[in-house]
Amino acid sequence: MKIKIRGKKRLQGTVKVSGAKNSAVACIPAIVLCDEEVILRNIPDIEDVRTLITILDQLGYAVSFKNNVLRVKKFIKPSYKVTSSEVNKLRGSYYFMGSFLGRYKKIIISHSGGCDLGHRPINFHLNGFKSMNVKIKDYPDYMCLKTRKLIGADINLEFPSVGATINLMIASVLAKGTTIINNAAIEPEVSDVANFLVSMGAVIEGIDTSKLIITGVKSLHSTDYTIISDRIEAGTYLILGALSTGEGITVLNVNPAHMEALTKVLKDTGCDIVTSTNKISIKRDLNKPLNTIHLEDGTYPNFPTDLGQLINVLMTQIDGESTFKENIFSNRFSHVSELIKMGATIDVKDRVISVKGPTKLKAAEMDAYDLRGSASLVLASLTTRGLSTINNIEVLFRGYENIVEKITSLGGYIEVID
Ligand code: EPU
Repeated sequence: MKIKIRGKKRLQGTVKVSGAKNSAVACIPAIVLCDEEVILRNIPDIEDVRTLITILDQLGYAVSFKNNVLRVKKFIKPSYKVTSSEVNKLRGSYYFMGSFLGRYKKIIISHSGGCDLGHRPINFHLNGFKSMNVKIKDYPDYMCLKTRKLIGADINLEFPSVGATINLMIASVLAKGTTIINNAAIEPEVSDVANFLVSMGAVIEGIDTSKLIITGVKSLHSTDYTIISDRIEAGTYLILGALSTGEGITVLNVNPAHMEALTKVLKDTGCDIVTSTNKISIKRDLNKPLNTIHLEDGTYPNFPTDLGQLINVLMTQIDGESTFKENIFSNRFSHVSELIKMGATIDVKDRVISVKGPTKLKAAEMDAYDLRGSASLVLASLTTRGLSTINNIEVLFRGYENIVEKITSLGGYIEVID
């Protein structure tokens, strides 16, 4: 699949942000912990969610997904084999490890997939499970994890990994005794998953802090829970606002507290930002050039890695040399060669991306390799009046709900070709 895309001089308007992908992809597998009906609201209609729904369906759950409301009910004991070809389409499928270990003590699961951002081991997850009395066998195509009794443990994460924190938290909710996760990730999506588990009767202390204390309970009960909105999607449209010369872009349905690292950077470039309870507006000052920025990503509340490739596009429009250091993933640079095709002066050395601007980007034919990289090519294409083509665009639809409609409503032209 590919898209044809072109900008227009004045992209402007309002965008309603969807539910957070990285909350949804963890909450959905966590449903396995509960035998009663679970209702999740604000679930984005994106490919990663559809893949997880297919997996639940294959496992024997009754699932309905309409108007961003997901209803799931178990009606048979699911097979502990989670090995369909869907599993390796995304990263979040590995959260079935935590939920199956918690509820059924056993899982055979294919290796999960996700964006190629360099080596992405899951040793922190597996070491945590082992300390909870889980035996693990790793085969070329799948893993077998099982325990006679899942027992709470004191776990010290080497790095505050989002995935490991969530997976171990999910597992420990029904484990015997108390689990302490030290050096836990504090990303808003981690807290959201914790709050979802608490809404089903889990006992978790220390939510929003780097020490989570989970006291195992016997079973969970039905819930109706609304997940948070997607701060990375919100950030994508705010960066588009900084790139465009219209009357500004407003994002609705956003928690400004989750966006502070980005809004600070955008203010540093010279953009006007107005924030209120649920919305953020951005407008570029067309009388002044954008200021250079030098930043690096880090764990929350630092600048998120997921917005690195997108902020690189803004750097192409800044007067002078800006830099971005990627600290989280070893290879999140697939967009660089593609932006060069559009005429960008951009270079990577030792995980530091240097961008010299301003450059009037020109339309090009490009290839998408990963989710945020593909979104960065979309933003770059929207700065030009020429018609760009982005091939292999499926990755974009894994994480952005209604992106074609949203960009069209802002005044961009985007056409999907199967
Ligand atoms: N790491 C290990 N061992 C582990 C786990 C992680 O060495 O067992 C390393 C990773 O290789 C990486 C670093 O630790 O270098 C951070 O990884 P983390 O576990 O925090 O990330 P993740 O759980 O794999 C999630 C999001 C990513 C987001 C990161 C960081 C999901 C499904 N994915 O990944 O989202 O970039 O946290 O915030 O929640 C995206 O949405 O485009 C995306 C890639």
